[in-house]
Amino acid sequence: MSISALQKERAKYQPKLPKSLRGAIQMTEGAKTESVADQAEIAKLFPNTYGMPVINFIEGKEEKKHEPVNVGVILSGGQAPGGHNVISGIFDGIKRIHPDSKLYGFLGGPGGLVKHEYVELTAEIVDEYRNTGGFDIIGSGRTKLEEEEQYEKGLEIAKDLGLKALVIIGGDDSNTNACVLAEYYAAKNAGIQVIGCPKTIDGDLKNDMIETSFGFDTATKVYSELIGNIQRDANSAKKYWHFIKLMGRSASHIGLECALKTQPNICLISEEVAEKKETLNHIVEYIAEVVANRAENGDHFGVALIPEGLIEFVPEMKVLISELNDLMAKGTEKMEELFHNADMKMRLEWVAERLSTESAKAFRSLPDHIANQLTLERDPHGNVQVSLIETEKLLGEMVKSKLKEWKKEGRFTGKFSAQYHFFGYEGRCAAPSNFDADYCYSLGYTAAVLVASGKTGYMSSVRNTTAPATEWIAGGVPITMMMNMEKRHGHMKPVIQKALVKLDGAPFKYFLSKRGEWAYKTDYVYPGPIQYFGPTEVCDQPTETLKLEKA
Ligand code: FBP
Repeated sequence: MSISALQKERAKYQPKLPKSLRGAIQMTEGAKTESVADQAEIAKLFPNTYGMPVINFIEGKEEKKHEPVNVGVILSGGQAPGGHNVISGIFDGIKRIHPDSKLYGFLGGPGGLVKHEYVELTAEIVDEYRNTGGFDIIGSGRTKLEEEEQYEKGLEIAKDLGLKALVIIGGDDSNTNACVLAEYYAAKNAGIQVIGCPKTIDGDLKNDMIETSFGFDTATKVYSELIGNIQRDANSAKKYWHFIKLMGRSASHIGLECALKTQPNICLISEEVAEKKETLNHIVEYIAEVVANRAENGDHFGVALIPEGLIEFVPEMKVLISELNDLMAKGTEKMEELFHNADMKMRLEWVAERLSTESAKAFRSLPDHIANQLTLERDPHGNVQVSLIETEKLLGEMVKSKLKEWKKEGRFTGKFSAQYHFFGYEGRCAAPSNFDADYCYSLGYTAAVLVASGKTGYMSSVRNTTAPATEWIAGGVPITMMMNMEKRHGHMKPVIQKALVKLDGAPFKYFLSKRGEWAYKTDYVYPGPIQYFGPTEVCDQPTETLKLEKA
């Protein structure tokens, strides 16, 4: 691997650990826990791992003696900055437990466990990846672990390698898998523990015990730098409206955080759209109004942030997508044939004929390319791949038509020219910010301590994250505590509840108090690139979301 100057310097960075993990460690246990909803059903499905207490690690008096432990690690789902530091944290943690401990990385995500594809992660390999972005140390994948045969394959290799535990680094779906696997191995008395780590740039795997998922901090800093640059360009040329779609499959945390950092003219929040039952037409009229009002001041430019998952929150689209999901889950032979051979128009008509009257109307009202994007293959968890739907273009085109109408009515006299962007993959493999470098290392180290403590079905948790890293609180949260029942692939399943933007939460309320001003004034903020070396105010700040939530 060729190494950049920054990477060389950054490799020397020693991530900070909470002080409770630095010396002898003692474990404390809280009261029994309950799942967030559907308690009876979740308890029945997870008889061996339900109701376990929350665990905290505190400074201990004397170091405990441990046997060497062999641990397997899996990176699952979309890349997020800091994954390599979770792995180096696990590595250092298990070596601290006993120098003869070994770490094995399964290749290409959960599929590596099933296919028995792995590599032993030696000190030499791990050192090469410390404080770097990406998941390339072992690769990632989206294979869903849901069949007994897969669990048994995992057990086979775990026995061959003498594994005490598996650590699954992933988002809500992958940690749901971790929980199911933990329960299966516990029920069999297989002697394999399963620990999860909260990863996703989307920021939607969080709750009282998981303050943030890793990668959110770095990714939103990268996007905010780019948004700031575009805002400066818009304000320099004064001729374009920039429609920027931001990654985040479901929740709008990324959009909200970037808006708090950059103060754009518009930022749509999907959760608000759903709450107010806004139709596509409402959204288009809101954007067109901001465009028209700014034009009255002579400002024929602006920046609008669009969350990637928006389309699924617009009520008529939500119903449509749910019907499409059910239709696609049936996967008939005719459908296979049409999807491979028929032309787009014919395929779309075939789909429309199988929808309810309302959904068919909504489906047919969309431009063909967008309707087609809605029928593309689902991910292995049954989700629409929203990153493939060009919502920014859909809105931009609809705003253009609306302004044309208004021009005829004399309601709009300005100019409107749009540019489109999608920021997603640009931020997922960035070198982790100081926050993510420390947070991820601490999560990995905590996972190692959970393994040594004999725990299974827990997610590694590091809290109090707006304080300096030394004061962070490390421990474990039972994954069942985060679960509820949801419809997937047409069936009710136990899954970790997604954390959406709370409309009564401090970050959204602050945004609400400012967005009117930001819409009409040009009050952009230019955050600039992530800084790894320099003053604390520039280098070590957590997200605005965390600061407001914890204020
Ligand atoms: P995770 O939930 O696995 O962290 O992935 C989130 C995400 O980055 C979404 O924001 C995005 O919609 C999706 O992954 C894209 O997936 P892919 O990498 O498969 O194109």
